[in-house]
Amino acid sequence: MVPRPRALEADQSPPHRASTVGRRARDGRWRAVVQVVVHAGAVVPLVMLIGDALTGGLTANPIQALTARTGTAALVCLILSLAVTPFAGVGRQAWAVPLRRPLGLYAFFYASLHMATFAGLDYGLDWRLIWDTVLEKRYIVAGAGAFVSMLPLALTSTRGWQRRLGPGWRNLHRLAYLAAILAVIHFLWLVKADIRQPVAYGVGVAVLLALRLPAVRRRLRSW
Ligand code: HEM
Repeated sequence: MVPRPRALEADQSPPHRASTVGRRARDGRWRAVVQVVVHAGAVVPLVMLIGDALTGGLTANPIQALTARTGTAALVCLILSLAVTPFAGVGRQAWAVPLRRPLGLYAFFYASLHMATFAGLDYGLDWRLIWDTVLEKRYIVAGAGAFVSMLPLALTSTRGWQRRLGPGWRNLHRLAYLAAILAVIHFLWLVKADIRQPVAYGVGVAVLLALRLPAVRRRLRSW
């Protein structure tokens, strides 16, 4: 190999290093903006709910509006948290991975509000009536199944639990897919006529599940 003249190395390396440093700084700023946008976007439904509740903007049936809006926020955050892994893997955007945990926790937070609205505001914590409704309406069973699937995920979302459970943590966190499927079934069963919205969410979950298949991932990577 012909040795590079020292003068040429000295001439070329500083601008090259400078451009790499500049690109890293730009990427870092861009990632910080995305993080802020994701957190702000996840909090917006709550801020709007509180705003509408304080100004009487929750329609003529505020409990139904609360239930519908918290349920939708929970499902959207859950699906977005599931989208992080394929986005990071197939799109080679590893920086997005840390967004998965907060999105999952936002989903759990909205699902808890959703359930609290149902049990506390709608049914006045009358457990007998709630139990009768659960037996009578299959969509409640699916919703409860979705919530129960999310519970261990929220409880074990810390780094401490991740370390303690080792490889089992990954398997446990696959429950997020079950939660999303059950939440979509819950929505599908509760709508009376227009099934377009639950079907759209269902397609989203199906695509995310397909993106986990090794064959699909390999194909997308090579593409
Ligand atoms: C025990 C648990 C749950 C109960 C009792 C429950 C109950 C309800 C009720 C009563 C409704 C409104 C039905 C109506 O409009 O008349 C609803 C809607 C909904 N729930 Fe749940 N739910 C539960 C869990 C969940 C979970 C875990 C999710 C999502 C992760 C979810 C997502 C939704 C969605 C997306 C809607 C439809 C919102 C809309 O109308 O636009 N639910 N749920």
